[in-house]
Amino acid sequence: LLVIRHIRQLITCAGGAPRSGADQRDLPIVHDGAVAADGERILFAGPDKDLPVSLTTAPDTRVIDGRAFSVVPGFVDGHTHAMFAGDRREELRRRLGGASYAEIAAEGGGIVTTVRATRAASEEDLVASTRVRLAEMLGCGTTTAEIKSGYGLDVATELKMLRAIRRLASEQPVDLVPTFMGAHEIPLDYRHRREDYVRLVIDEMIPAVAADHLAEWCDVFCETGVFTPEESTRILQAGAGRGLKPRIHADELGASGGSQVAAVVGARSADHLIFVPGEGIRAMRDAGVVATLLPAAAFYLKLGRFAPARALIDAGVPVALATDVNPGGGFSPSMPFAMTLACFAMGLTFEEALAAATINGAYSLDRHDSVGSLEPGKLMDAVLVAGDPIDVIRVGAATIAGVIKRGKVVFQTSMLDPRSSQT
Ligand code: NIG
Ligand code: FE
Repeated sequence: LLVIRHIRQLITCAGGAPRSGADQRDLPIVHDGAVAADGERILFAGPDKDLPVSLTTAPDTRVIDGRAFSVVPGFVDGHTHAMFAGDRREELRRRLGGASYAEIAAEGGGIVTTVRATRAASEEDLVASTRVRLAEMLGCGTTTAEIKSGYGLDVATELKMLRAIRRLASEQPVDLVPTFMGAHEIPLDYRHRREDYVRLVIDEMIPAVAADHLAEWCDVFCETGVFTPEESTRILQAGAGRGLKPRIHADELGASGGSQVAAVVGARSADHLIFVPGEGIRAMRDAGVVATLLPAAAFYLKLGRFAPARALIDAGVPVALATDVNPGGGFSPSMPFAMTLACFAMGLTFEEALAAATINGAYSLDRHDSVGSLEPGKLMDAVLVAGDPIDVIRVGAATIAGVIKRGKVVFQTSMLDPRSSQT
């Protein structure tokens, strides 16, 4: 057994998923809390005084003294492109010099640059480079992450990426949720016959991915100049027909209709939403679509604005947060940084941001039965924050004292010194 006792502040995020409206910020704090787990499953989470004595006296119990830190659920990052080859640092420099993401993409840079490198990389190369990124994410508190294909844009490379993701899922601690995103961009050689590419995605890629059970979700970049709402709808419905659940990149660079597509196809999540119109918000609310917001992408792409998070929450749409780790604008692996931007650039309270990074992220990935909150029966995935939970948004300070994944301490700083615990 693993027991953490006398936790300074425990926020369990327990109480059902998703959290929306006032419920998203109504997160009770337990002072002097305790969490106990048997192997990878939680047995107890609540006030230390209610901890059953039997859980502290078992002979194989490791007790950690929690007086110096707080405990929150492990972060669930519901939107990443963490698998890619090469890098786009030159584009970053150009953007800092004034070029926009859309300009660079129109000139044949952007996603297609990463596609060239990813096609040339071996499956082993992809596993190795992505493993490093997942370790960074874990050190920032992420214990479950979605990860997309989409830098192949041909059958062989899309399958290579998804096989590499499957391998990584079994050989490092972060639980991975795989998404097929063949519709991430139109490859250069299809730009004058785009319908042929849509057909390739629908007729060849989706059946091949589904046949080998290589992905759980299907995603599309619905945007002006990329996939139209009509094409996005067809692709997501074709995926759903083969058991790939829909999610979508929507209204990121303009109001391109993605939020309405999400409602029509019954997507679990619509992501980005920087330019979501009022009717898109209402359509999402009525269809029960989660808004996954990626403020670090808006920040690093210098879009000059952020998604209307307050309007989404006030309309009753559950809001989740994710990093969008990718070689273009996804330079931060940190869910705490996404939470910081959510609080200071999008007007969320700390509790709203925490629910967005945990239980609502879990719901956005259909993992709310096993992760996203600290409750008996769920996985023992937890972040140990030095000080109070809100200290986690102190950018650059080493406030994450430890990360527990499936009951094992998988990351720790000296604060979580084994000498301070008893066996
Ligand atoms: O979420 N919008 C499309 N996809 C990514 C960017 C991927 C890239 O630039 O490589 C995003 O922003
Ligand atoms: Fe993305």
